[in-house]
Amino acid sequence: MQRFLTIFLSCILLQTRAQTSVSVIPAPVKAEIKTGSFTITSQTVIVADSNEENATVNFLNAYLQKYYGFSLRTVKQAATNFISIGTRTFIKAPDRPERYTLVISNKAVQIKGDSHGGSFYGLQTLLQLLPVQKSGSLKIPAVAIEDYPRFGYRGAMLDVSRHFFDVDFIKKYLDLLALHKINTFHWHLTDDQGWRIEIKKYPRLTEVGSCRNGTITGRFPGKGNDGDKYCGYYTQDQIREIVQYAANRFITVIPEIELPGHSSAAIAAYPQLSCFPDEPTKPAKRTIWHGDSTGKNVQQAWGVFEDVYCPGEYTFNFLQDVLDEVIALFPSKYIHIGGDECPKEAWKRSAFCQNLIKEKNLKDEHGLQSYFVQRIEKYLNSKGKAMIGWDEILEGGLAPNATVMSWRGEKGGIEAAKQKHDVIMTPNSYLYLDHSQCKNEDSVVIGGYLPLQKVYSFNPVPNELNAHEYHYILGAQANLWTEYITNPAKAEYMLFPRLTALSEVCWSPVQNKNWEGFKKRIAKQFKRYDLWGVHYYPKLDEPLK
Ligand code: ACM
Repeated sequence: MQRFLTIFLSCILLQTRAQTSVSVIPAPVKAEIKTGSFTITSQTVIVADSNEENATVNFLNAYLQKYYGFSLRTVKQAATNFISIGTRTFIKAPDRPERYTLVISNKAVQIKGDSHGGSFYGLQTLLQLLPVQKSGSLKIPAVAIEDYPRFGYRGAMLDVSRHFFDVDFIKKYLDLLALHKINTFHWHLTDDQGWRIEIKKYPRLTEVGSCRNGTITGRFPGKGNDGDKYCGYYTQDQIREIVQYAANRFITVIPEIELPGHSSAAIAAYPQLSCFPDEPTKPAKRTIWHGDSTGKNVQQAWGVFEDVYCPGEYTFNFLQDVLDEVIALFPSKYIHIGGDECPKEAWKRSAFCQNLIKEKNLKDEHGLQSYFVQRIEKYLNSKGKAMIGWDEILEGGLAPNATVMSWRGEKGGIEAAKQKHDVIMTPNSYLYLDHSQCKNEDSVVIGGYLPLQKVYSFNPVPNELNAHEYHYILGAQANLWTEYITNPAKAEYMLFPRLTALSEVCWSPVQNKNWEGFKKRIAKQFKRYDLWGVHYYPKLDEPLK
């Protein structure tokens, strides 16, 4: 009898648990299914607290129009059949500014944020409760949800240097980030294979630096060279448009201007930036070059190149001018300065660099890189901006206020946190979405194996950090490098569903994470990808290793 009772009670308990879960990604902190439902039709109205909710109201209406073919009127007051969007008022700043509550009853949908961003995230949860079939009558369950993110920094990076993505795709990418409550877009704008941002004071950066004369074909070192001129850049007007588009989705855009390495495109435009302005650009070993090979050129293959910025006054003046224009375009607190993969060969054989090392009493070329990065940090700080760099900026001494982006595993992040520096976790072993997501990938990818489950399993706070240190982990970010990603469809295919897993890594409390439960929710999410017209990898059972 006792055994029967136990089984009976377990069944009831299981049923209760099943009833209290909603199929939302990232999993909310608390969600309770209530009895009843609400139906959104063209007769439903929106009641917004103030004009400050316009971005959220507009997102809702654009979404309904695009996917269901109708939008809603906004009114001052309503007794029933309404969606209210508002923000709580506080005497002092709320502890969790991105928190929201979402309450759905038979009469109304009520979204209340602890900030305007919070109400926007409440809306994102509501959108995931909508049916995936196009209809004029959208039935959603009655629920009570309280939710807030685990991390304040939830990021996604896109490399637009190796391959260029136009404004329309950047907007689609931003929409997809918003739908996943990701709040930071890291825009990798410069690299060896193309300079992609208009700088008025240095027009050759885009006249020369935004084009390469060909691209290797196939996997590095490649089978040949396509010989096609490949160009692309964003005008400052386009950048402003994108920054505003992102802000309307509560997304901050962090621009990355790479230094001192990965600078071939800038050097092709202004050879004096190199310690050896008269030496021709060296192609990557074993690759096939197309076109002019005299003088400085934008690179046509992937990799790491020895011709880097020379740490002289010409370069510092140039970079400060560039950063002035970048700062004017991007309201973000942070500017990313790269700092990764800077070979030291040119500095070793440059008499100028060797003298500078002596004059500044530096230990070696790593000390010189640290001197370079620290000068740039000082400049950014003087303009009220904070600097982010890849984890190589730890080598030779960390700049005093720098935030470290840990990409070569988690080691750099652990070391930086122990030095009391802020950290963003983006380890290649868990969050490099250019790696293959299946064993038998049939398109060309850079290599590595990163199935969905591995992304999902990532914990941004390493066990090595103690209670004082883990606060330095601001959050996590997935990176999409685009050497082998030549078009939007492939970019989406590499992003999804792994970016959806990242959203839960960054947002949901650890105790609400569960791989089996996630798999069930993601299967539903596939239908939403179909609704959104997003390409994705459709299998969920790839082995973990
Ligand atoms: C990097 O992947 N080189 C940051």
